[in-house]
This record gives sequence, structure tokens and C-alpha cells, in this order.
Amino acid sequence: MKIRILLSIVGLGFLAACSAGSGNNLDTQEEKIRQMISEMTLEEKIGQMQQVNDGFFGDDEATKQAIREGKVGSFLNMIEPDRIAEFQKVAIEESKHGIPLLFGRDVIHGFRTIFPIPLGMASSWEPELAEKAMRIAAIEASSMGINWTFAPMMDVSWDPRWGRIAEGCGEDPLLTSEFAVAMVKGFQGDLNDPTAVAACAKHYVGYGMSEAGRDYNTTYIPEPLLRNVHLRPFKAAADAGALTFMSAFNDLNGVPTSGNEFTLKTILRDEWGYKGMVVSDWGSIEEMINHGFAADKKQAAGIAVKAGVDMEMATTCYADNLAQLIKDGAISEEQINDRVANIIRVKMEMGLFKKPYNSFVSADTILAPSHLEMSREVARKSMVLLKNNNSTLPLSKNIRSLAVIGPLADAGRDQLGTWIFDGNGDDSTTPKQAFGEILGSRMNYVDGLEYSRDKSTKGFAQAIAAAKNSDAVLFFAGEESILSGEANARGIIDLPGIQTELIAELKKTGKPLILVVMAGRPLGIGAEMDMADAVLYAWHPGTMAGPAVADLIFGDFSPSGKLPVTFVKGAGQIPFYYYRKNTGRPATENDVVYIDDIPRDSKQLSLGFKSMHIDYGVTPLLPFGFGLSYTEFKYENLKLSSGEMSKDGSITLSADIRNVGNFEAEEIVQLYVHDKVGSITRPIKELKGFKKINLKPGDKTTVNFDLNAKDLQFFNGDAYVIEPGDFEVWIGPNSDEGLKGTFVLK
Ligand code: BGC
Repeated sequence: MKIRILLSIVGLGFLAACSAGSGNNLDTQEEKIRQMISEMTLEEKIGQMQQVNDGFFGDDEATKQAIREGKVGSFLNMIEPDRIAEFQKVAIEESKHGIPLLFGRDVIHGFRTIFPIPLGMASSWEPELAEKAMRIAAIEASSMGINWTFAPMMDVSWDPRWGRIAEGCGEDPLLTSEFAVAMVKGFQGDLNDPTAVAACAKHYVGYGMSEAGRDYNTTYIPEPLLRNVHLRPFKAAADAGALTFMSAFNDLNGVPTSGNEFTLKTILRDEWGYKGMVVSDWGSIEEMINHGFAADKKQAAGIAVKAGVDMEMATTCYADNLAQLIKDGAISEEQINDRVANIIRVKMEMGLFKKPYNSFVSADTILAPSHLEMSREVARKSMVLLKNNNSTLPLSKNIRSLAVIGPLADAGRDQLGTWIFDGNGDDSTTPKQAFGEILGSRMNYVDGLEYSRDKSTKGFAQAIAAAKNSDAVLFFAGEESILSGEANARGIIDLPGIQTELIAELKKTGKPLILVVMAGRPLGIGAEMDMADAVLYAWHPGTMAGPAVADLIFGDFSPSGKLPVTFVKGAGQIPFYYYRKNTGRPATENDVVYIDDIPRDSKQLSLGFKSMHIDYGVTPLLPFGFGLSYTEFKYENLKLSSGEMSKDGSITLSADIRNVGNFEAEEIVQLYVHDKVGSITRPIKELKGFKKINLKPGDKTTVNFDLNAKDLQFFNGDAYVIEPGDFEVWIGPNSDEGLKGTFVLK
């Protein structure tokens, strides 16, 4: 590996900062920070609070001059390592206080080596994998000079219409929390190491609940839901040492989250004692004007500073107005000092004063073979087998011929998914390439449709002919990356274009029909699932999509992913999440009267007075936690160490899992709890633990879970409580099935 050593003047800025002081022994970091701030002018402090996009100040000379004058604390979207080093050098050596700069970038699920979208990674239910993946992302990004990423995104969402559902870890607060922590650890690694990249817990908070999935939209989240669900991943990330937070775009209960004292001050600072730095989202301070929460940029700046936003991204409400706001007496310089202290603290924690130039950088780390291998492994483990009738899968590599059809079979850029600033479609191995390599001329490839929204049937005949001439059909369905991600909300969540029509034509050939779906959201694919013999949900799998799909289709590995989000039957069923409440009139499938069965002349007042849809029924398409395997696992022998738990105690639960099929495979064993009666109503199920096991055919293992009374705590509107009473508990393969037991919390 070639190591390029950039200018490395260790500790200059830090020493300069200290020696600029009174010569006192400044032994704690806090004293050093306060000393430094006491020596800064107000303009220099406000400068630290400004983050700008590359090019904001003009050309590089103008940029250097702005840095010298202390007008900026951070840049985003600057990635050339030499240029970054040069600017950093100016900050350290030529600005008055030698405070290093943060260089931020959206490194969301990989830098050049792209891993599956976060929703895909979450489907692995293996946070350790996400940690390894994000470590690789940090190694690659830091080699380009990046020392801060705006990730992980940990917005819990119940809405597949929302394009950014791709970027999160699904609907569950526990699963999301575990992935958030793992990603924070992966990005930050060892802060003393030059490859450390500061993480950013975003978007704080509630952003995933935007109305109807329209991005940036209003959110109403009652405090119990906020605390029991949406805040949890953020608390976990803060506890795991996430150095920064990002305030969000959304209006939360009438107060925009970038000016929300309740979430930013009361909860984050006062309750959690968070000492890191909060950056606004892009323009989110200024957008408080559009929200109707501030009359102008000046008022917006005052609101954000008071709430506790330390750094402003992209816009200049702070730079233009903070000095005047102090003069007006609307805010105090002490408030500014507190904001700046958080910024300098992060720079110190990152060790930037000691290793300001990210001195060991290597361009050769990009797309290293080990990175690609990890990308393939994560992709493989993120795919979820949704259907496999009559063991259609796996296919034999000796298959006489295989039709590979569909708009997503050879879309190197689109298989990478959303939020890829630095990913490159040319680096991708597509399914067409991977299957071609394995099958050679035995692969009959036809695109059938040029892209997912293509409405032309001109490729149908060729696709049907290829299917007829093959032993099986592999159709790559889905949506391109542009159809999910920021701002890219869909009201209809079905397969776009006329993919369904083509699938129906392929079905008519009578050949085994396998769908591989690549998408950034859980699509409404009920009709397509009915037609197909097997369905593998691949999300947007990243650079190594092709080899990873081939690994599973040909049975080198069994699929092992499980859904981190409920699959709905159609958009009208949204929201539908597994930890919903029971309601006063819960319906079972037996209660459902379907619309087609209602007599034409029915004079009934109601169809049963139950909570249901007369078209969708009462069940989703697929439940949270669902995923099949090439083998079959049998769950038996649920044991609880005791039927009683004390208020500060715990019990151990166990079940035996046996591989009763013919394939070695991994299984994700899940623990759910139902608190039967509460001081506020409780969800019908809550995930309390999960474990991944690997079993050979015929083998059995006992899976243990420790459940602590603390795990049963919830916020009831007044306080966090652990309430005595009856609980149901399940150990099972998904949120819908499992071995059931009960215990009493005394
Ligand atoms: C997004 C953030 C992102 C930021 C910087 C915003 O539009 O909401 O998630 O980090 O841009 O690119």
C-alpha cells in the first residue's frame, strides 16, 4: 500500500492555542476550550459557527483568505485531499487561533465501495457488519481528506412512500438503535487514528414521520411516541459517543426541529448531558421563515442559537445576524460561547489539533479487494427471501439455460442506491456481468424494458422468447435509485411502469419465474409475488450486487435477511407497523368481510364494527422480521427461568432452534414482548432482542435472551416507568409467529 505523507506539523495549532493564553497550566480540555474562546473576537466565534459548501467564498485564494480571517468552521463537499490539506494548513498556521477545520461529506453507505442502502444493511440484523462496512467507508473517505460524515441517519419511519426510508434502518427503535450505534463506532473507530471520521446522528428528530411521506413535511408526534420510539436511536448514538448531531427540517408539533428548545435543549443537553456539537441541516435555520416560525433570517438565527444549534450548514443566518442580535440584547455572548465550545470540543475530541492534516492518506485504499469482498458479504446478508415455492431456489449452476431479464439486471449506477456522492456505477459488478461470468452462453440476457418506468412493450417479444428458450427466468424488477432518497417521495408504491405486465407475460411461459427486486423502499408487490415462484428482495445492494445475488441464487449461501420494515399491500394501508396498538375493536382475519363478498343489496349498517379494511383485510403483505431461508428452522421448547420478574430484576428466556432442512443457513431469532396493561396503552408487540445463529442440517442450538425489567420501561406521558403486571413473550422467526410464554412483573 502506497502511503502518501502530507504535510504533518503535529500539534502546532493546539500548542499555539494554549500558548496564546496566559501561560497558566490549563490541565483540562474544558479549561483549554474556555481559554481559547476568551481570546477570540465575536466575529471569530461566529466564524466557527459557519459551515459552507466548497466554493462559497469564491476561488481558492478567496477561500484561504476567509479561513485566515476565521470566517469559517467547516466546509462540506470538498474532497480533494491535497486541497483540503492546504486549507487545513492555512487554518492552523495562518489563522489567529489555529483552529482546525472540519471537512464534512455525506458518506452514507460507503464512499467509493458502496454497501447496501442502510435499510438493506438493517435487513442483515447484524450490526457488527454495518460497523465493519462503515469502518471501510471511513477509511476510504478519510483518505480523501474527509473527517466528518453526515451519517448515520436513524429516523424511524412507518412510511414506504417517504423516499428517505431507504436511508434509515426501518420501523423499529431497537433495531435502528443497534445499527446506529454500530455505524457510529464504525465511522469514528479510534479517534486517535487518522482514519477516524466524526459521525453525525441525524435527523434530530421525528423527520421520518412526515405527513404522507412527503419529504420535509409536518410531523405530529406525541411525547410518549417521541420518547418510546423516535428518540431512542439518538439516545443510543449519543451514549455511543456520536460526536455530532444534525437538527432536522421538520416542524415537530408546531416547532421546527432546528429551533426546538424542547428537543435540542431540554432533552439533548439537559436530560442526556450531550457534549457534542449540533449542526443544522442544509438551510434548515433559514427555512424556519417558510415554516412561519421566524419572520426573517435574523429572528431565525436567534431562535436556533437559543435552542442550541451550534453550527449553521450552508446558509448564513448566523454570520449575518448574530452580532446584531447580541447588540440588541436578544441573545448573549455567553450563549455564543456555549455554542462555540461545543464546536471546538469536537475538533479536540477528533484530535484535529494534533493531527490536523489527516497525515496518512492513501489513495490505494479506495475499492481495495477486501472492501469489495465485505461489500459482497453485506449485500448477500441484506437480501430477504420472500417466497420460494417448491424449492424453486437455489438454481443449479449446471442449469442448461437461464433467462436474465429486466431493467435492473444491468444498471451499475442504480444498484448503488440513493445518496451516493462518490460511488461510481463503473465500479459495479451487475447481475448481468456476474451471471454471465458463471453461465457464459447459457445465460439468455434480454433487458425487456429499458428502465423501470419504461412504458414501451417493444422488448416484450424478445423477453418472452428468451424465457421460452430457457429452463428458468430470473427477472430483475424494481425502481432506480432516483425513485427513492431525499425529496423522492412516491404516492404509489407499486412497481413503476409496466414491469407487472411483463412479469405476467413471462409467467405465461410456464417457466419457473424468479423475481429479484432492487428498490429503495418496501414496494407493494403482492400481485407480482402471487405470480412468481420465488422472490428475493435485494434492496439496492451496492457495488457488488451481481456477485451477491449470484451467491444466493445458486445456493453458495442461503438467504438470511429479515425485513426491518412491514411490507404493506398497497399505499392505502400505510401506516402499518408491527408495534401498533390493539384498539378497542381489534379484528382478526375471520372478521374481515371483503368488498367483493358484500351482497349488492346489503342493507347492513356495518360490516362487523371492527377495525379493518374491506379490501386489504387486517394483515400486511409481510410482517416485520419476516424472511425465508433455503432450509427450515423449527422452534421448540420455550423456557423462562422464572414466571416472575422483580422490578429491578431479570429473567432468562430460551428456545431450541433446529435446522430440519437440508441446507446450512443462518437464522435471526427474535424476542418480542407484550405488556398487557399499562398506564397508557402499550403496543401489541415490541422487539426486545435478536440473535443470529448458524446451523448445519440436523443441528440444534439453544438461544438465550436475558430480559431485564429495565427493558420494559416506557414513557407514559409523565415519566419513564416500569409497571408491574402481566406480560406475554415470544421467541420466533418474525413478528407474527413464535413460541409464546407469559410472566408477571412484580
Ligand atoms: C440532507 C442531509 C444532508 C445534507 C448535506 C440535506 O439536504 O437532509 O441529510 O446531510 O443535505 O448534504
